[in-house]
Amino acid sequence: MQVPPRESKPAATPLIDRFGRRVHYVRFSVTDRCDFRCVYCMSERMTFLPRARVLTLEELAMLGRTFVELGASKIRVTGGEPLVRRNILWLFQELGQLRERGLAELVLTTNGSQLERMAADLKAAGVARINISLDTLDPARFRRMTRAGELDAVLRGIRAARAAGFQRLKLNAVILKGRNHDEVTSLARFAIENGLDISYIEEMPFGAINDHDRTEAYYSSDAIRADLEGVFVLAPTTESTGGPARYYRVPGTDSRIGFISPHSHNFCDACNRVRVSAEGRLLLCLGQEHSVDLRHVLRAHPGDRERLKQAIVAAMAIKPRGHDFLLGGQTAIPRHMNHTGG
Ligand code: GTP
Ligand code: 5AD
Ligand code: SF4
Repeated sequence: MQVPPRESKPAATPLIDRFGRRVHYVRFSVTDRCDFRCVYCMSERMTFLPRARVLTLEELAMLGRTFVELGASKIRVTGGEPLVRRNILWLFQELGQLRERGLAELVLTTNGSQLERMAADLKAAGVARINISLDTLDPARFRRMTRAGELDAVLRGIRAARAAGFQRLKLNAVILKGRNHDEVTSLARFAIENGLDISYIEEMPFGAINDHDRTEAYYSSDAIRADLEGVFVLAPTTESTGGPARYYRVPGTDSRIGFISPHSHNFCDACNRVRVSAEGRLLLCLGQEHSVDLRHVLRAHPGDRERLKQAIVAAMAIKPRGHDFLLGGQTAIPRHMNHTGG
């Protein structure tokens, strides 16, 4: 009698935390700078990091190689706005080559302002998917919510990304009561008409902001879903993009509608990710301060990949169970979102 072959086990990864969660998704914030000043992300006056404190592109490339050797299969490049960093294409080209060494997905989160000129090059570098922030379709409101952005540039960027052949473009909309909650259905309609996915995001309490009270502006995913169900049929799916969104399909369309609900549907139990801040802090949880200074390791021991690996593996021991965001409390975390890119 023949013994059936054993099922192959998932590849061993040293990136497992105390709670048994496997980390295979890493997010790199490549700059804290941005050409927008979104009201939920930044205060009106921001001080940005001096250049010497920001990781160099070479350091980021080395981190990418190291994480992939440690089993990371997805790298997301974020900011600030990643595409305003000079020579950023070089980094995408370097990271794109890691696809031959086990990287399954190189992805990008952007505000879309630079996509018109960069989409084709990003595609050629190996970027697989792009998430684009879009909170409103009204130009005046867009200007107020981003304090500096031009809606039309983002819409041109979305068109350029589609023309460059990006398949699954996703919009990210942070919904705030009294600012854009009345646009939930029009944003979905825009996504459907353009063959895009869309995620609705509950605002998270990062950094002091001065334009609104976060408790008053809270608009839950359930409220958003109820608004959508007044117009569309939403069919739940188990599909995942490896991030925190829970997805629904709108039958008869190609779009997925996602909900990122840090307040109302905590997703920390399934966390599979860590992030590196623009300053090179390895943050083990977006909503906590537990971190390891990888910039120090990179600069104190240049070229020593083994030491870097040891630091990253050891950091798994301090990955917290999850965030402790409270509605109605003060800002949970003093750092602004542009340091970690979400
Ligand atoms: P996909 O790969 O398309 O699933 O993307 P993603 O949702 O992982 O990334 P994206 O940069 O588009 O982030 C969308 C929103 O999810 C942002 O508001 C992020 O801050 C939020 N987000 C991503 N990861 C986490 C996390 O671990 N914890 C919390 N609280 N929010 C997260
Ligand atoms: N809460 C939730 N999402 C935020 N983003 C920026 N700041 C916040 C916040 N305070 C979103 C941006 C972008 C993504 C990376 O994070 O809109 O789409
Ligand atoms: Fe810039 Fe993104 Fe922050 Fe808006 S949310 S200010 S686009 S980093």
